[in-house]
Amino acid sequence: MKKYLPLLAVVFLIIGFMIGCGGNYVSSDEAAVDNSTEKADTLITVGFSQLGAESDWRSANTDSMLATFTEENGYSLVYKNGQQKQANQITAIRTFIQQDVDYIVLAPANEEGWESVLSEARDAHIPVILVDRRVNASDKNLYSCWVGSDFELEAKKVTAWINAYTTGCGIDPSELHIVNIQGTIGNTAQIGRTRGLANAARDYGWDLMAEISGDFTEAKAREVMEALLKRFDNINVVYCENDNEAIGAISALESAGRRVGPNIQKGEVMVVSFDGVNQEALNYAREGKISCIAECNPLHGPRVDALIKALENGEQPDKFNYVDEKIYSSIPDVTDVTVDGKTYPIEKP
Ligand code: AHR
Repeated sequence: MKKYLPLLAVVFLIIGFMIGCGGNYVSSDEAAVDNSTEKADTLITVGFSQLGAESDWRSANTDSMLATFTEENGYSLVYKNGQQKQANQITAIRTFIQQDVDYIVLAPANEEGWESVLSEARDAHIPVILVDRRVNASDKNLYSCWVGSDFELEAKKVTAWINAYTTGCGIDPSELHIVNIQGTIGNTAQIGRTRGLANAARDYGWDLMAEISGDFTEAKAREVMEALLKRFDNINVVYCENDNEAIGAISALESAGRRVGPNIQKGEVMVVSFDGVNQEALNYAREGKISCIAECNPLHGPRVDALIKALENGEQPDKFNYVDEKIYSSIPDVTDVTVDGKTYPIEKP
């Protein structure tokens, strides 16, 4: 046995060393795990329910949100596209609640029908931030705050431009025969823009002949415009509730042999629209085919980020946060419009 003692000593030394090292390895592994847990714990989890992908505006809006809510910026994002269906968005919100996200960001497809699911979010103590369109809920405490555009103001700017331009040309208001290609019905953008035109038509004495939805898409607007051209032979203004619709309407007008532009006294059809995001539409505006565009700014990612940061700091941001927006036209006759006491310069598209 004696002769084996030095060997045993060496074996015990090795075992002892391994145990020591093993202990170190375990603790460093745990530290690594701890670190990653720590990292995940410090990320703010956001569930974002986007309503769909109907327009270039929407794509730019989604891009802005995805570029903002990154791990580098301190977020873990769960993104769901609602494909234009409120039911999908409600399911997404319920999933976010189950996942116990820190914040729910909702870009709602329409205004009505959100009360139950937003109550569920409130019961789960998850703050909801609305972005772009709003929800119509009698209990405003169902959401923390909203950020987006003043859609009716956009409409007031466009209609003020139409009024300034046409009166400047000496056109009697009753000679404006207008059709409205509306957005998808029932959301804040459509409601504000439709109301803005209806009020202007009533106040100025324009002939508003039809209001039909083009679903904010080029294809549907082309169909709607084709049908309107069959129904009316005196259309001289087409009010499109977004740029994609304007592109579709222009395609239908030109295919029907109509000239598109501001000079309605010479038989052109004036097209106006909203957004200022789609490059083709901006080019049309530079050529004068779209006479006037009220900007609708889609870059809400950093704005929602700022709202979350404020809530994280224990601040209560303003309930309604409006984005400043411009108005574009390349037609030099009108240099500015004044709406609700504020003057907006007309900017080059
Ligand atoms: O809610 C914003 C509107 O929705 C944009 O003007 C339109 O293009 C979009 O689809």
